[in-house]
Amino acid sequence: MKTYRLGGILITKEEISTRVKEMAAEIQKDHGAEPVLFVGVLKGSVVFLSDLMRCMNSSIPVELDFLAVSSYGSSTRSSGIVKITKDLDEEITGRKVLVVEDIVDTGLTLHYLVNILRERSPKTIGVCTLLDKPDRRRVSVDITYRGFEIPDEFVVGYGLDYSGRWRNLPDIHVLKTTA
Ligand code: IMP
Ligand code: MG
Repeated sequence: MKTYRLGGILITKEEISTRVKEMAAEIQKDHGAEPVLFVGVLKGSVVFLSDLMRCMNSSIPVELDFLAVSSYGSSTRSSGIVKITKDLDEEITGRKVLVVEDIVDTGLTLHYLVNILRERSPKTIGVCTLLDKPDRRRVSVDITYRGFEIPDEFVVGYGLDYSGRWRNLPDIHVLKTTA
């Protein structure tokens, strides 16, 4: 049976902090004073989202909503089946929406989500992800803001989990397998 343990740090909290500030500045520059609804994809995005929104200055009205999808269970590989398990509270018609994710892997989750949200006729819809694992992409996703491109490794920390664990770590670590 495979077991998993925490490996070394891939991205330090200092590197994350610097990059999150840069991303916030970019978002701010692109939106001016227009209200933006940040849509956090639960649960992995919450740490990133809470840092990102606190880096935006008061000139941009940031609004907040969440949705949840299930696609993984306790495996490190995508099942390809994506289900909305908690929908938005807010109507998004005519609004500027920015979907905030922890990581884009196969792309299946965001591909599916963005299509569903587009049907609700937002004014604009963008995607902001902290991490991008392009090697594993199965469907293409338009990423508007990307924090870091990472190799094909399973990572945990800073909101990202394996089977519910390690979300609380301030740095991003690689997950190691022991056979
Ligand atoms: P995708 O649908 O394959 O793009 O997967 C997206 C979701 O899978 C992310 O929002 C994460 O919740 C999860 N995921 C993918 N790769 C990792 C990883 O390396 N660590 C933790 N979660 C991951
Ligand atoms: Mg996620």
